[in-house]
Amino acid sequence: MTTSTPALRPFRIPADGLYEGRRTLRRTPDDWHDRPYELFEVIPLAATIGAEIRGLDLSRPLSAALRAELNRALLEWKALFFREQHLTSAAQRQFAAHWGELETNPLLARGDAKEVVRFDKAAGAVPTFENVWHADVTFRARPAMGAVLQLREVPEAGGDTMWADMAAAYDNLPAEIRARIDGARAVHDYLPGFARFCTPAQLAPFQEEFPPVEHPVVRRHPETGRRTLFVNASFTTRITGLPEAESDRLLRLLCQQAHVPEYQVRWHWRAGDVAFWDNRATQHYAVFDYGNRRRVAERVAIAGDRPY
Ligand SMILES: [Fe+2]
Repeated sequence: MTTSTPALRPFRIPADGLYEGRRTLRRTPDDWHDRPYELFEVIPLAATIGAEIRGLDLSRPLSAALRAELNRALLEWKALFFREQHLTSAAQRQFAAHWGELETNPLLARGDAKEVVRFDKAAGAVPTFENVWHADVTFRARPAMGAVLQLREVPEAGGDTMWADMAAAYDNLPAEIRARIDGARAVHDYLPGFARFCTPAQLAPFQEEFPPVEHPVVRRHPETGRRTLFVNASFTTRITGLPEAESDRLLRLLCQQAHVPEYQVRWHWRAGDVAFWDNRATQHYAVFDYGNRRRVAERVAIAGDRPY
């Protein structure tokens, strides 16, 4: 029996872009050449984002060929997962450093190794919350290129992390919204989200180091060339040149796109698992459903370039 795919159109496309029906799910740019992977196995986890990488021990030295193939996997899948690596902090830093200079974050850094941020709610090491859709440190003029996160301790249940593909989010915006935001710029500022965790005296030096910055609302991915929606609920405060109410309305619509399940992948952690994501192409959300149970994560971030 043959089946044909009827040309289904959504019943309607509401103003928020969150419509039912068929979505465009392009994993790579149209002119991308798919090639097989030679050095490891790639297990896809979702349509456009997320793959488990099997057959690697990340604590071993990384050859140029392996680095190149992993980078291709990162561009194609945006978030890579490696089971039960149990890296030392030094090995985690070393792996991340193959992608560039490591970022230090004076807002979050505690302890000796400033490049390693430890998230442990029970120990109160970092006072912030991560259960909001965001890309990391977009309040910087040069937001992180990516991050390598390892779970040291995992709660019995819960504590997953989710990622969303922001190129897919862009592709599926109604045409009139895309026309409005191509070329638009937006202000990013850590202060509205972070101020409640700090005293004014603690904030003063940070405010000097991190004044509000402007980024394009749609950035071009520097390695794939894809247009990627680049505003987020944590740090984007307004769209430049729009009246406040209009800016709020449009920002809410744009930030909501990360909530669409078709653009997402969700990773259920085991202790020692490592995730490596492209912060230029994705947003993420740490699901906070484990109450007072312990969950310890360590993140190393890789410095990025200026979005354009
Ligand atoms: Fe984050």
